Amino acid sequence: MRVLVSDPLAEEGIRRLETAAEVDVITNLSPEELVERIKGYDALVIRSGTKVTADVINAADRLKVIARAGVGVDNVDVDAATKKGIIVVNAPGGNTISAAEHTIAMMLSLARNIPQAHASVRRGEWNRKKYTGVEVFNKTLGIIGLGRIGTEVAKRMKAFGMRILAYDPFITESKAAELGIKLASLEEIYRESDFITVHTPLTPETRNMIDEPQIKMMKPTVRIINCARGGIINEAALAKAVAENRIAGAAVDVYTKEPPVGNPLLEQERIITTPHLGASTAEAQINVALAVADQIIAISRGQLPTTA
Ligand code: NAD
Ligand code: MLT
Repeated sequence: MRVLVSDPLAEEGIRRLETAAEVDVITNLSPEELVERIKGYDALVIRSGTKVTADVINAADRLKVIARAGVGVDNVDVDAATKKGIIVVNAPGGNTISAAEHTIAMMLSLARNIPQAHASVRRGEWNRKKYTGVEVFNKTLGIIGLGRIGTEVAKRMKAFGMRILAYDPFITESKAAELGIKLASLEEIYRESDFITVHTPLTPETRNMIDEPQIKMMKPTVRIINCARGGIINEAALAKAVAENRIAGAAVDVYTKEPPVGNPLLEQERIITTPHLGASTAEAQINVALAVADQIIAISRGQLPTTA
């Protein structure tokens, strides 16, 4: 079996793959180069950097598995892969805790203006008044998407004394009640929350689910976090709302186009940004690398995959 790894993958995963396959790690390929290179490989391992388009899939001559070392498979043309009988697998769960912790780090940074205050001290300023923040204690947190990451964020923020509202059409009242969370409508979340965080996949239903009309329902003091996928919140509408002081701020880890060159979100001081770091911890990277390696090896032995 020959495996092409086209995005950085933890060494542990590569070593595990090498127990069963010949592995080539070739990162930073252009789309054209990937179309050329994919020939002759049985499996392709990616993170979010590689776009596996229909062109790549159609150029493949013996590809059987596309393995995403992470959760979101929105960078894979799953329909094209399925039509060609190629299995798409991912690594759900391996980066859940890291993504939840990053979301919370972003929420607290936003509440206390930490990145802006850090930059200010480095510039030689001492401006304690300008960077006065807010507590999260006793505030309402609206969580859209109560899956793996949304649930871990909820559990942790309950310990901070937040009131949690959650919207997820696929979660039952009883599951929410087990977590001590109240299910709410989207409108209730928009109107009542002091912090809103999104944890859904990017789908036709969730694309631009927070846009100008939704932002209009929100409190002027709301702070919004997106550590899920660029495009769930309309970037231009979010940047404009912050610029016009209609909301208090935002924290964004993911973008419609990465890197986000020319993105209006980067122009606002009250929008804090990170370069898609949600899963970037030593632990999560080992977890997802081992998970995809195991899936590829299992499939090569004719066992059932956990498909995305
Ligand atoms: P998950 O599948 O466990 O949870 C997603 C939840 O969204 C599910 O409960 C689902 O029912 C819900 N959902 C689907 N459509 C919805 C809708 N229209 N409205 C409300 N809820 C809806 O996934 P997860 O592991 O929790 O990941 C959540 C998101 O975070 C994904 O987009 C994933 O790609 C992203 N992610 C980002 C990073 C990062 O580095 N920033 C890391 C890991 C995951
Ligand atoms: C994911 O969907 O798992 C994230 O985008 C994390 C990543 O692989 O960067």
